[in-house]
Amino acid sequence: MTSSKLSAVWSRLEGMAPSTLADLFANDSERVAKMSQRIEFEVPEYGTSGLLLDWSKTHLDDDLLDAFEELARAAGFDAARKSLFDGGIINPTEGRPATHGAMRGSGTDADVEEGMALLTRMGMLVDAIHDGALGEVKHLIHIGIGGSALGPDLAVDALTRDLKLVDVHVVSNIDGLALEQAFAACDPATTMIAVASKTFTTIETMTNAASALKWLNDNDVDDPSGRVVALTANPEKAVEWGVDETRVLPFPESVGGRYSLWSSIGFPVALAVGMDDFRAMLAGAQAIDTHFRETEGRANGPLLAAFGDQYYTRLRGCQTRAIFAYDERLALLPDYLQQLEMESNGKSVTASGDPVSGSTAPITWGGVGTDAQHAVFQLLHQGTQLVPVDFIASIAPGDELNPAHHKALLTNCFAQGAALMAGGNMSADGKDPARAFPGDRPSAMFLVDDLDAAMFGALIAFHEHRTFANAVLMGINPFDQFGVELGKKMAKDIEGGEGEFDASTAALMKAAGLG
Ligand code: F6P
Repeated sequence: MTSSKLSAVWSRLEGMAPSTLADLFANDSERVAKMSQRIEFEVPEYGTSGLLLDWSKTHLDDDLLDAFEELARAAGFDAARKSLFDGGIINPTEGRPATHGAMRGSGTDADVEEGMALLTRMGMLVDAIHDGALGEVKHLIHIGIGGSALGPDLAVDALTRDLKLVDVHVVSNIDGLALEQAFAACDPATTMIAVASKTFTTIETMTNAASALKWLNDNDVDDPSGRVVALTANPEKAVEWGVDETRVLPFPESVGGRYSLWSSIGFPVALAVGMDDFRAMLAGAQAIDTHFRETEGRANGPLLAAFGDQYYTRLRGCQTRAIFAYDERLALLPDYLQQLEMESNGKSVTASGDPVSGSTAPITWGGVGTDAQHAVFQLLHQGTQLVPVDFIASIAPGDELNPAHHKALLTNCFAQGAALMAGGNMSADGKDPARAFPGDRPSAMFLVDDLDAAMFGALIAFHEHRTFANAVLMGINPFDQFGVELGKKMAKDIEGGEGEFDASTAALMKAAGLG
């Protein structure tokens, strides 16, 4: 489609006067039914899982949705989505397809076949470790950064609250303290090391990996390098580094770092929860792939979510969006989504290199409820910024304590969404400005039946597709990340004493004894 067609739809969207949430509800008794959707899927051995999405407390209405559907057509959404699953070059700046879907069964036959073969290979190693083939393994120190750490860290934290087959410590920071803390929690005689790096060149990961191997050596562990597993798209580099070929678990170059949880980067998850739960996580994600592939227009959950994101970012000038999980198991979700959304869509040029016309990715942030209510919700209710909020909660509790805990958790969650929308004045005479709440503040709700492995996979895949849909609507490539390269190069230059630096940086280096 032509860019003039796109501009025309944006102009139409910009010209639409926003209704208040109160008016939207008052004028449409069917609003909740229209703006909510239940996505159900079946995973063998797990039964039916359900996810209720409620977008009614956002400002989206029929007119806006009609215009956004037109925008999706003008932006070539159908063709882009087809290309994603058909193995097309959807990442043009790096000349690659994006085949993370194939790692969970969604993609071309050849890509899925490769993904399933790699999964079988990983499963054999995981099962062998559980069966004691590598001796007693009680701990795994998983070393990686960015996409090679955030997904595994989140998934292990979310899925091992009941039972952990192996105790996993994810270490990403090059600050040696992070690794020292993992050492302190592990017995070297029963610890394995996973070195997770797509490129197998990332400075933080390779430095930490070398120190972890040294730790095994220093503690007289038998065959230290025999206790190292590599998870990488660069198997030759891993072998060169000293990992035995039999313990190198590869994944394809076309799987992006922040989309790699489903590949061998998920090894620590599989080791901690077992292959059955790991496969259930993949199946939940695949169910969302199917929904995303086969559902048109506003009925497509991730696309509808992207319409909301575009509305608030481009039409209402919101610079951030917040996610609050009312579930301890998803405490790391905002960190994970930060990379997924900001590294994917924090761009200033389109896929063809032209400057983008409006704002792209908002800043993703968030926290866990109810803690966040006592820390940041003040600004959400009374601050000057408009922040669209997503709430996530599970109907089934994650704990086994007195049900009063879970009831209070859910009621608090629902109350926050209601209060953000309703507003009001808390003073006795209803006039004190300090106690006034403007209301009309939007939120969306993700309410899952139960946060099991399948549902967890579904939630993550939902957000991957939401991110992709946003990218298509903005015309940008979500699969490259050149924005991280300049800082990396400068760090290398500073370390190697090369290059010329500005006066401030030179003074800082001198002050730290690095000059
Ligand atoms: O710095 C950005 C980045 O390339 C991320 O995209 C990636 O997830 C991370 O670094 C780690 O890269 P690797 O897996 O190659 O070590």
